[in-house]
Amino acid sequence: MENPPSLPDLIGQSPAFLDALTHASAVASINRPILVVGERGSGKELLAARIHFLSPRWDGPLVKLNCAAMNDELLESELFGHEAGAFTGASKKHRGRFERAEGGTLFLDEIASSSQRVQEKLLRVIEYGEYERVGGEQTINANVRIVAAANVDLRASARNGDFRADLLDRLAFDVVVAPPLRDRREDIPILAAHFANNMASELESAFPGFSAEAMALLIAHNWPGNVRELKNAAERAMFHWSINSEAAQIESVTIDPFDNAGVPIVEPSTLPSSDQDIPIKKQTALDTPIDLRAHLDEIEKSLVSAALSKNADNQKRTAEYLSLSYDQIRGLVRKHNLLGSRQRQ
Ligand SMILES: Nc1ncnc2c1ncn2[C@@H]1O[C@H](COP(=O)(O)OP(=O)(O)O)[C@@H](O)[C@H]1O
Ligand SMILES: [Mg+2]
Repeated sequence: MENPPSLPDLIGQSPAFLDALTHASAVASINRPILVVGERGSGKELLAARIHFLSPRWDGPLVKLNCAAMNDELLESELFGHEAGAFTGASKKHRGRFERAEGGTLFLDEIASSSQRVQEKLLRVIEYGEYERVGGEQTINANVRIVAAANVDLRASARNGDFRADLLDRLAFDVVVAPPLRDRREDIPILAAHFANNMASELESAFPGFSAEAMALLIAHNWPGNVRELKNAAERAMFHWSINSEAAQIESVTIDPFDNAGVPIVEPSTLPSSDQDIPIKKQTALDTPIDLRAHLDEIEKSLVSAALSKNADNQKRTAEYLSLSYDQIRGLVRKHNLLGSRQRQ
């Protein structure tokens, strides 16, 4: 069966990410609220869209509202609508998001920010499918599925009394977890190439691939802003390369744009000399399938090899240089047969 038209493209192959996708697909068909949890930028909104488009409601509306984006009164009237004259400035009747999501899905982002009053009304819609507009008497029936997202620990909020425990029980019929990017670093090369590639098309340029050192930096970063932060970094790197493309590949990556240095990420002296050519595939653009593990192995090998050269083949110093234990560096040297091959040369 073909995917419904708007099923979002979710990139990633790591076990943690595939688990999240499988879970989102599995809960799609059940007509109950779902809670999607994860750090900012980890893909919660995309997972919510996946849940909607794989559900029987896929051809109904998918309406989104960020509960942190407005004050309590506005949130209430945005969700449930209001009657004309409900409050100062409410000159006309206003249809709420519930009405607009009729027959579809309502995605409530940052649900933890909603007021007690809104939480109470949400509980009632979930339990009885009914609510009133702000300032209204008439009870309206809602056929809307709620998918809520949170980037805070709602169980802790419920213990503190900041979030209604009964609402949490209802929302968390099932909980889909968007894993942080640092727990699925295998996905970084594909995601980075994907975003840089899109940026390249936008710039009517071609993505030249990331150098091994640039990719190693991307893989090593902790990504507190997760995929959103990586997307920005990859797009920025592609953009900078496009305006000053002397290098064959993208060698410089600025993760924090306030760090205005934008310096090459490995000092020239630490780069392997040209007679020790790095065995890295020159193309990281994913026009053709790649063997990710083999590619990462190659990056690992080239970096360990470069670090060994820099430290005169001293494994203890190389371990310190790469923030590894002595046993780890010995393991890597053996794995890639680094000193052996060099001694034979
Ligand atoms: N797996 C993924 N594949 C492609 N793009 C992704 C993926 N995860 C997140 N993104 C992109 O990263 C950004 C943040 O994702 P979003 O779903 O809004 O995160 P959250 O809702 O958790 O803050 C968006 O631009 C989104 O398109
Ligand atoms: Mg979001």
